[in-house]
Amino acid sequence: MMSAKVMLLGDIGVGKSSLARRFVFDRFESDYKTTIGVDVLTHDVALGLEGDNATLRFVLWDTDGDFGMRIFETVYLAGASAAIVVADATRPATVVKMSGLVAKFEECFPGRPVSAIVNKIDLTPDFRLSEEAASQAEVLYTSAKTGQGVEEMFLSIGRAIWRRA
Ligand code: GTP
Ligand code: MG
Repeated sequence: MMSAKVMLLGDIGVGKSSLARRFVFDRFESDYKTTIGVDVLTHDVALGLEGDNATLRFVLWDTDGDFGMRIFETVYLAGASAAIVVADATRPATVVKMSGLVAKFEECFPGRPVSAIVNKIDLTPDFRLSEEAASQAEVLYTSAKTGQGVEEMFLSIGRAIWRRA
C-alpha cells in the first residue's frame, strides 16, 4: 500500500486536530486540548478512483499551531508529500497566517500538493476568501464540527498525491 506523510499546518486553535479526528474517528470534541509538538495519526482510505481500487495510507502529522513559520526550521517537515494548511473562518488573522504557510510550503516543496482549508464554516456559513487569497492554492471550506467538506478535502489531497506518484 502506498503511504504518504501529510502535514496539518495552521495557526493555534483553527481546528487541525479536530479535522484529523473527524477524518479518522468520525468524532468531534468541543473541548480544546492544544497539541504539544506533533501528533501522528494513520488512516487508510480508498480513493475511489475509476478503474482502480487505490488505497492510500495517510500518515497525518498534526502539528502545534504555536510553531508558526518556525515549523520550517524543524525536522517535522522532512519527507512530507503534501500539506493541508488550515485557517479559522471566524479569525481573519489566521487566514493571513495560512497564506504565509502555503507560500512557504510551495517554496520548500515545489510541486507537492497543498490545500488551503477554511475551517469552522458552520459558524459563518457565508464566509469566502478574497480572490487574492483564494488564488494561491486549492481552497476548500470545512467544518470539523458538522463534518461538512472534511472527507472530500482529504480525498482530494489523497488523489493529488496519487496522481503525482
Ligand atoms: P492547536 O493544536 O493548539 O494548534 O489547535 P488546533 O488547530 O489543533 O485546534 P483544535 O482542533 O484543537 O480546535 C480548537 C477549538 O476549536 C476546539 O475547541 C474545537 O472544538 C473547535 N473547533 C474545531 N473545529 C471546529 C469547527 O469546524 N467548528 C466549530 N464550531 N468549532 C471547531
Ligand atoms: Mg491541535
